[in-house]
Amino acid sequence: MFTSIAGRSVIVTGGSRGIGRGIARVFAAKGAQVLVVGRDLAQAEAAAAAIRAEGGSASGFAANVADPADVDRMAAAAVERHGGIDILCDNAGIFPAARLLEITLEHWNEVLSTNLAGTFLSVRACTPALASSGRGRIVITSSITGPITGYPGWAHYGASKAGQLGFMRTAALELTPHRITINAVMPGNVRTEGLDGLGDEYLEKMTASVPQRRLGSVEDIAYAALFFASDEAGYITGQTLVIDGGQVLPESLMALEGMGG
Ligand SMILES: NC(=O)c1ccc[n+]([C@@H]2O[C@H](COP(=O)([O-])OP(=O)(O)OC[C@H]3O[C@@H](n4cnc5c(N)ncnc54)[C@H](OP(=O)(O)O)[C@@H]3O)[C@@H](O)[C@H]2O)c1
Repeated sequence: MFTSIAGRSVIVTGGSRGIGRGIARVFAAKGAQVLVVGRDLAQAEAAAAAIRAEGGSASGFAANVADPADVDRMAAAAVERHGGIDILCDNAGIFPAARLLEITLEHWNEVLSTNLAGTFLSVRACTPALASSGRGRIVITSSITGPITGYPGWAHYGASKAGQLGFMRTAALELTPHRITINAVMPGNVRTEGLDGLGDEYLEKMTASVPQRRLGSVEDIAYAALFFASDEAGYITGQTLVIDGGQVLPESLMALEGMGG
């Protein structure tokens, strides 16, 4: 269906676990060379080794996306290992829950610096190499939480995820002359290590509130990212795609219950 992304150089931040690992696996299965990035080198290496065991091309790299020097080293490593950068999957993120009155400035800064400054720093560091590619692609992992919905405990997180989209829309304009597109996937609730950490009650109630009655898989998100990264999506920039099993659609509990089935 799509032109192959075989041989393309891909960076996946937060590629060592969860959605990022799913993106890394799917892209590698399509023949891309993937730099798997996380703060913990051993986990990033383990995820890359698992991809290689499946016949893919991947290596691990340790970087904190909130640290400008680390992010510059990350971009340089991809150029050195793969000869350039064609695709940046800007996915690293954290979602520690805290109610508004309990959020300290330190909490706020931790979430915003990882999720929002991390996006800016990653895009800035990779832009020269993406421009040299001539068909650069950036795919941000945002969320429904923030841009569309609210959830008690995630005011700081929601701000970071909505902020990514505000950043993206101006970045799209500035990146267009460099033949780089930038788009965002907006996952609903996806079964990852991070989500599992929220506990069984959360997972059960969340599953019941999704019209498709299941949580997302990491592959559900990875295939949407793959579309934005494809040559065929070259005329799409500054746009978003919700992948949530219909979660944002019901306007009330009655609407959800009235679905039948
Ligand atoms: N799961 C969901 O339901 C869901 C829904 C909507 C949006 N999202 C978004 O999807 C992304 C991934 O979420 P997930 O559920 O897959 O999370 P996860 O399972 O907790 O994995 C997070 C990944 O990000 C890395 N990471 C965290 N902080 C980092 C930092 N400062 N620098 C570099 N890497 C860092 C982690 O590795 P290290 O810990 O080793 O650094 C790990 O690889 C996030 O942006 C999140 O907001 C998730």
